[in-house]
Amino acid sequence: MSAPPKTVLEVSPEEEAAIRLAVATADVGTLGPGRAIARPTDAVDLARFLADPRVSEAIYDLPRPIDETNVRRWIVEGETQWRAGRRLLIVSREPTGEIAGYSDITVWPERSAAELAGALAPSRQNEGQGGAGALHTFGWIFETLGVRLMCLTAATDNVRSARLIEAAGFTPMGTRDATRADGTKRRSLYWEMTRDQWAEKWG
Ligand SMILES: CC(C)(COP(=O)(O)OP(=O)(O)OC[C@H]1O[C@@H](n2cnc3c(N)ncnc32)[C@H](O)[C@@H]1OP(=O)(O)O)[C@@H](O)C(=O)NCCC(=O)NCCS
Repeated sequence: MSAPPKTVLEVSPEEEAAIRLAVATADVGTLGPGRAIARPTDAVDLARFLADPRVSEAIYDLPRPIDETNVRRWIVEGETQWRAGRRLLIVSREPTGEIAGYSDITVWPERSAAELAGALAPSRQNEGQGGAGALHTFGWIFETLGVRLMCLTAATDNVRSARLIEAAGFTPMGTRDATRADGTKRRSLYWEMTRDQWAEKWG
C-alpha cells in the first residue's frame, strides 16, 4: 500500500480538482513510445513479467501472490483509481509487443503529491535506461499532472534505485515502514522532492 508523503502541503480545492482532472485525462503516450494505461487484457503478460524476481523482488506494493487473477484485480483497481484522478498504472511495450516495463504513479490530489514505482524488463536493466527513464518520468509527473511534491521509497539494499533517485536531486529523509499487500512491513529508504527543487535543478 502506498502511503502519502511525510510532508503535508496546504492544497486548495481548485488545485486538488485540477490535479484530479490532469490525472484522469493524461495522455500517457506523451511519456514515451509504447506506453498505455494497463487494461485487464494485459493481465496475462503483466503477471508473467512481474513474476520474475529480477523485476518484482524489490517492489513492495505489488499484488501477492503474483498470479493472473491478482494482477487482473490490481489492473481493474488501477483503472478505477485512474478515473478518480488518483493513479496511473502504465505498461510499456516493445514494438514486438513484449513488456518492456511498467510504472505505477500514485497521486494524492488533496496533498498535491505523487509517488512513482516501477521496473524495467531484465534485458533492459543496468544500461542506464532506468536513470534516464526515471528522470523523464519525474519531470512529466511535475509538469503534466501538476503536483508540487513527489515522494519515493526503495528497499534499503536497492543500490540502483538509491543512486538514480539521488542523482535526480531527491532529498533523503530517513526511512519509513512500507506495508506489503499481505500486510507485512518492509523498511524502506525514503526521499522527497518539491516541484520548485526540480525546476531549480532541471528546469
Ligand atoms: C531500478 C531500475 C529501474 C534501475 O534501472 P537501471 O537501468 O537498471 O539502472 P541504471 O543502469 O540507470 O543504474 C542506476 C545507477 O546504479 C548504479 N549501479 C548499478 N549497479 C550498481 C551496483 N551494484 N553498485 C553500485 N551502483 C550500481 C549505476 O552505475 C547507475 O548509477 P550512475 O548513473 O551514477 O552510473 C531497474 O534496475 C529495475 O527495474 N530494477 C528492478 C525493479 C526495481 O528495483 N524497481 C525500483 C523499486 S524502487
